[in-house]
Amino acid sequence: MAALLGGPPVGSAWKVRMVALVIAGGAVLLARGRASWLAMAMIAAATALATLAWNGHGAMDEGSTGWLHLGADILHLLAGGIWVGALFGLLLLMMRRAEAIDAAHLQLTHRALHGFGAVGTLVVAILVITGLINSWLLVGPANFTALGTTLYGLLLLAKLVLFAAMLGLASLNRFRLTPAFERSIAMNDHDGALMTLRVSLAVETTCVIGILALVAWLGTLAPPASGM
Ligand code: HEM
Repeated sequence: MAALLGGPPVGSAWKVRMVALVIAGGAVLLARGRASWLAMAMIAAATALATLAWNGHGAMDEGSTGWLHLGADILHLLAGGIWVGALFGLLLLMMRRAEAIDAAHLQLTHRALHGFGAVGTLVVAILVITGLINSWLLVGPANFTALGTTLYGLLLLAKLVLFAAMLGLASLNRFRLTPAFERSIAMNDHDGALMTLRVSLAVETTCVIGILALVAWLGTLAPPASGM
């Protein structure tokens, strides 16, 4: 088991990722809406995502700290993956051409928005807790006040600014725009509410793409706690 931490498993993680991606792709192609195949695709995709922890700083520690870091990083990746996946799924639903939007599609879109609102709270909680664990282990309590003096620190701060913007937009969507969209459907006048939600989700998605670019860059730098 100790071999899972710090080193050689990068190759094994890659192999597991490739097999999981093939299974996920195959299950999606064979699913045709069947829940069991979609569940298999979701588990295989989550496995593939989790293996990325071995390619980042998540696998750099040993012993019990190593397990804590690896576990936190895997949960961080999965929570981030759910938020990113949900944003692209919601945008796909909302970008349908006007002439193809009927009452059933509007109901489906509202249900998806409302449903993600609930899941979103749990996703945010997991991201903040695992993000703080990552920060504690990679930045280190002694370096928090000096975050603005290193490239790593500045990139992490930029990431947190984008995260704060996403939180604001997600709350706006959940508590203002989605209820307004529901009322607009009831009044059979949904164009304005739909357009506002599209813009808000597009901005939120742009923020998360920015976050992914920042973490890709962060992954190439020596974190402050490494002392390098
Ligand atoms: C939408 C929100 C967020 C997303 C999508 C996200 C995504 C990610 C991803 C994909 C990684 C790379 C993991 C790896 O390479 O193994 C990462 C690393 C990290 N995240 Fe987040 N994260 C989010 C929010 C946060 C928050 C709120 C914090 C702090 C409280 C945080 C702190 C970190 C740290 C310190 C790392 C390690 C960076 C490194 O590789 O050195 N993240 N994040």
